[in-house]
Amino acid sequence: MKLVKTRQELADIVTQWHRAGETIGVVPTMGSLHAGHLALVKALDGKATRRIVTIFVNPIQFNNPDDFHLYPRGLEADAALLEETGGVDILYAPDETQIYAPGFSTRVVVSGLDAMLCGGDRPGHFDGVATIVTKLFMQTRADIAAFGEKDFQQLCIVRRLVQDLDLPVSILPVPTVREADQLALSSRNRRLTPVQRARAAHLPASLHTCIAELKAGKNLETCLKTCWHDLEEAGFTVHYLELRSGKNLQATQPSDPSARLFVAASLGDVRLIDNMPLC
Ligand code: PAF
Repeated sequence: MKLVKTRQELADIVTQWHRAGETIGVVPTMGSLHAGHLALVKALDGKATRRIVTIFVNPIQFNNPDDFHLYPRGLEADAALLEETGGVDILYAPDETQIYAPGFSTRVVVSGLDAMLCGGDRPGHFDGVATIVTKLFMQTRADIAAFGEKDFQQLCIVRRLVQDLDLPVSILPVPTVREADQLALSSRNRRLTPVQRARAAHLPASLHTCIAELKAGKNLETCLKTCWHDLEEAGFTVHYLELRSGKNLQATQPSDPSARLFVAASLGDVRLIDNMPLC
């Protein structure tokens, strides 16, 4: 695996690959890699002959500067993990000058999808995500890009922008990787205290219970209220808990085959998100 830090070096390698008829897969990340990221790399098996992992902690997707500064960083450990796992040709880890030149003033806005769910209390977050993802697609010139279903809203936004802007990249959704107690893997889990970590398992457990009740035909509003209450009892501050279409993220009913339950809830100052399909 080669560590590449400049967009010029990346462009030179990618040009050679394209000339040689290679197909390029990319996994965009902000580092602090874990088994969820490795599953994204693995998902490209058989779909791309060359694989790039990008690591860039994108300042414009953080609405809180403290959150940006506190975001865990560890390029050496991330590089060692990728090297040990194998299958990655390039680790692209640009600094800010390679991404946002002085005077940078363009934003990619995926209207509508960006304002609901996580967009509600993180204004501008998805504009930042859509902008960096577009830039990384242009810089890597990838044919295929893997995104985790854990960030399902992000996945929907990326799909929309690729379709709307005719970007020549296909999007590969990858199922959420979970711990033994079903907590979805996330770099943020490292910020949980041991007590909070034990409590965090209530999040997937409550979603499972809510889904079982919905499948048993119970009333949607009652199920959501009970689940919200259970999460509060377990110590969470709940930001949203909603049933939405997995196709367009609009509010939906349990009879919708694409319906998914979406939640964002915090333990202390650690905000966790999760989502699960009903079917
Ligand atoms: O999911 C993430 O880690 C980030 O939002 C992404 C897609 C790498 C853009 O910065």
